[in-house]
Amino acid sequence: MDEVTVRCFDGGAAAETLEAFLPAYREIYVEPPYREGPEDIAGFAGLFAVHAGRPGFRVALAVAGGEVVGFGYGFRPPPDTGWWRNLLRPPPAAFAAEDGQRTFAVVELAVRKPWRRQGVARRLHAALLAGLAVERVALTVRPEPGAAPARAAYESWGYRKLGRSQPGSAAPVYEAVVLRLRPPAADGTAPTA
Ligand SMILES: CC(C)(COP(=O)(O)OP(=O)(O)OC[C@H]1O[C@@H](n2cnc3c(N)ncnc32)[C@H](O)[C@@H]1OP(=O)(O)O)[C@@H](O)C(=O)NCCC(=O)NCCS
Repeated sequence: MDEVTVRCFDGGAAAETLEAFLPAYREIYVEPPYREGPEDIAGFAGLFAVHAGRPGFRVALAVAGGEVVGFGYGFRPPPDTGWWRNLLRPPPAAFAAEDGQRTFAVVELAVRKPWRRQGVARRLHAALLAGLAVERVALTVRPEPGAAPARAAYESWGYRKLGRSQPGSAAPVYEAVVLRLRPPAADGTAPTA
């Protein structure tokens, strides 16, 4: 199997990676529990364009033999983010407070089946976080058995569970997890969830 190279893209260069990783996205997210079809893919592309305008937007691509075999991306949620409001059990206000610098939200992390269990996601995750000055990293993951590898990965990298999260009444319920990178500011409090 070809050697896997991981590359990171920030800002405008990151926004231009969609076409490169979309075939991998399609292939991966047709799997359960996601079962995404053409409408979902179009919705994703629209959301990606919105996220591409956010501060700290960063994409990591894993490439082997000229093909994208895995990808991940994220950004820093702005002060008016709805991210913490999606938690079904809201955390303390001081914990949820954002100043645009405090948190990096990982939105996607995915690896094509033949390249799994070879540390590709671990490398993509490390590339996304490299050099970040944020206090914490947050993400959501599906609770179904099909997402067990993702939950196991996040747990092995030190994420802890915050509670259930639903980004809209028609959206699935996710499990929200957070990875602390450095101590919170003096007024930040840890959630009790
Ligand atoms: C989750 C996913 C990205 C992991 O990718 P990967 O490249 O196989 O992950 P890694 O090889 O870096 O594994 C990192 C750790 O995760 C855990 N892990 C990964 N897959 C696992 C599995 N099938 N069973 C148990 N633990 C698993 C292990 O702790 C592993 O470390 P180890 O191999 O040293 O034991 C991949 O399975 C995937 O793309 N799934 C479909 C998309 C998805 O669910 N994305 C997450 C959306 S939130």
